[in-house]
Amino acid sequence: MTLDHASEAFTDADPDDVSSNPSGNRPFRDVLAARVSRRDIVRGGTVVAAVGFFGAGVAGALPATAGTSAPASVHPRRKPLLGFTPVDVSTADTVVVPDGYYAEVIIPWGTPIRPGGPAWRKDATNTAAEQAEQVGMHHDANCYFPIGRDGNRRGLLVTNHEYTDNVLLFADGNAVMTQEKVDKAVTAHGVSIVEIALDRQGHWQVVDSRYARRVTAATPVKFSGPVAADHPALQSNNEPMGTVNNCSYGETPWGTYLACEENFNGYFGTASPFTPSTAQARYGIAANNGSGANRWHQGDARWDIVANPNEANRFGWVVEIDPFKPHEKPVKRTALGRLKHEGATVWESRGRVVVYTGDDQDGDYVYKYVSKAPWRLLRLLGRSPLDHGTLYVAKFNDDGSGTWLPLVHGTGPLTTANGWADQADVLIRTRQAADAVGATPLDRPEWITVHPETDDVYMSLTNSTIAPAGGPNPRHPNPYGHIIRWHYRDGDTTRLDFEWDIFLLAGDPTKDPAVTVPDAQRFGSPDGLWFDPDGRLWIQTDISNSTINLGAYDRIGNNQMLVADPSTGEVRRFLVGPNGCEVTGIDLTPDRRTMFVNIQHPGEASTAIGAPTPANPRAVSNWPDFDPEGRPRAATVVVRKLDGGIIGT
Ligand code: FEO
Ligand code: CA
Ligand code: CA
Ligand code: CA
Repeated sequence: MTLDHASEAFTDADPDDVSSNPSGNRPFRDVLAARVSRRDIVRGGTVVAAVGFFGAGVAGALPATAGTSAPASVHPRRKPLLGFTPVDVSTADTVVVPDGYYAEVIIPWGTPIRPGGPAWRKDATNTAAEQAEQVGMHHDANCYFPIGRDGNRRGLLVTNHEYTDNVLLFADGNAVMTQEKVDKAVTAHGVSIVEIALDRQGHWQVVDSRYARRVTAATPVKFSGPVAADHPALQSNNEPMGTVNNCSYGETPWGTYLACEENFNGYFGTASPFTPSTAQARYGIAANNGSGANRWHQGDARWDIVANPNEANRFGWVVEIDPFKPHEKPVKRTALGRLKHEGATVWESRGRVVVYTGDDQDGDYVYKYVSKAPWRLLRLLGRSPLDHGTLYVAKFNDDGSGTWLPLVHGTGPLTTANGWADQADVLIRTRQAADAVGATPLDRPEWITVHPETDDVYMSLTNSTIAPAGGPNPRHPNPYGHIIRWHYRDGDTTRLDFEWDIFLLAGDPTKDPAVTVPDAQRFGSPDGLWFDPDGRLWIQTDISNSTINLGAYDRIGNNQMLVADPSTGEVRRFLVGPNGCEVTGIDLTPDRRTMFVNIQHPGEASTAIGAPTPANPRAVSNWPDFDPEGRPRAATVVVRKLDGGIIGT
């Protein structure tokens, strides 16, 4: 989630927690209720009384409905996947990793993207121009691109910067907004591309590179796909530029990076009289600019929704960046829809690309894109596989089946007679198109990942506060979240039918008997979710700082990363982050011996701890520098085994 970082008191709900979906489509929790009512889980995460479609032995698996008979798709394994001693919960202002591992910080916010670039100033007086040559703030997803034969020791690290915290970004904190301050916030957003190398002493360092690059909220961009650059809805007072709120990511088989725009609405506001249109309201665009944390419109009319209304139509897209072509403009791939993209998980099936993308808001949907032809063929023809394909949205049925519903102009209700002008209109208003076809609302879809052997798809649903529409549901309201998965017959993930099940229900089992993880491994608000090449499922948490260490979360500690073996259901806690942070973003070198994990927003205002101020930016955390005159900053953590072994073993 985002924008839970305003250093003002937490008087508002997190904007992601509030539904802006008025469709009345049947919520996923109702569908889940119908299924949960048939389950018989033995608490403690070790026994299930009924067998899910993935076969026996999956802790917490909910039973498939009688008659669902998909094949067990997780193979028995010879060697245990997980080989480390789990760490305990922690509220320490540090990164905790298991015995036998070490963690080192690289590229904290403000690091020059090239050695010799503008130096980080710990008093937050770096200018916008300097920030444009430094690593951005609030690292989210990352992706490691190996370089050459030495790819386990040298590569490009690409990192999203989801949002900024004004109190920590500016020397005068969240005081009056100026053009210079907006410019700095704009350049602290976007994506960083740095080249890193492992030195002989076993430390990763930033090295000089022709690829080093910042993409910010002011970088010129291109539009591609059905919503062309000359579309009337994309004409605004400035050239097409920038990407904001880059959350999770995707990696294409042709070697590019997909940065996903999530809560873009929060960057627009106005002091002028303003009533949002139905389409604007569906995306949460409002005069008061969400939590009020950004207020960019107060310093730059580009972000004023009245003065420059179409600028907001340029956001909410998936942005393709080739990290090895530093002079190419990022491309907004409009065929993937306009929504609050958490990520864009790319998979290959029958030669085509399949892209999954969750719309992270309470009561919104999950989408899938399938290229019209094999991706290699499309690229041979000079076409992007991300421009030529069909977007679908998921409908989950009570009986454990599901269907992908096409969002195609002229299909179903998406007709000219119903007010849909063309495919571009369907894509600009993706959320409303999904409402119209009857998609299933979900408890905040976050990351999606695909099992490397079985093609089964896992998705974290982080939490929900929407009251149930009816029916018994022990998980609603749902403060802890869960992980759902789905499966395709014949290994063909381009299919439009699937079977779904619940992998686990997160939480503190001493407070909620439905929780399916053992007490020692308790966690909540799963967000980051990523399969490593061996099939370990890494789970990262993003408990809101309005609730962390309080109430339902008073025994769960700081945000953390766990790892699950999907073939046994076992979960072990691997890492715990410092105060105020979220743990997000994960990748490995090809040899699986170096892991890159991001610590986002350490030191953010936390109801349980306090709030940073310009006078004391260290009130919540002073990680990672622990400089008595410094300030907390997001960073990437490099995790390695002391014996140089494979991470997780
Ligand atoms: Fe940016 Fe939904 O996390
Ligand atoms: Ca989240
Ligand atoms: Ca977050
Ligand atoms: Ca996230």
